[in-house]
Amino acid sequence: PITVVLNRSGKTIEVAPDQSIANAIQQAGVSVDTSCEDGICGTCETRVLDGIPDHRDSVLTKSEQEAGKTMMICVSRCKGGRLVLDI
Ligand code: FES
Repeated sequence: PITVVLNRSGKTIEVAPDQSIANAIQQAGVSVDTSCEDGICGTCETRVLDGIPDHRDSVLTKSEQEAGKTMMICVSRCKGGRLVLDI
């Protein structure tokens, strides 16, 4: 599982392998905007404060993906098991 720290909400959640980060956050009672849930619209773009995203979207450019400052939480995951998000 991935551990995701929601920095502004003061919550820490676990994301199961078969669950999106966005869904896990919503299940924890924190609302996040999503639309396509397929990594193509950009609605769920979220600032990454710490950790290394494993990008699986089609929105960010290669250089944006390499910078790792934002991610699409509907499809992307994480390298290293822990992310801190600006949520
Ligand atoms: Fe469309 Fe995440 S909801 S990119």
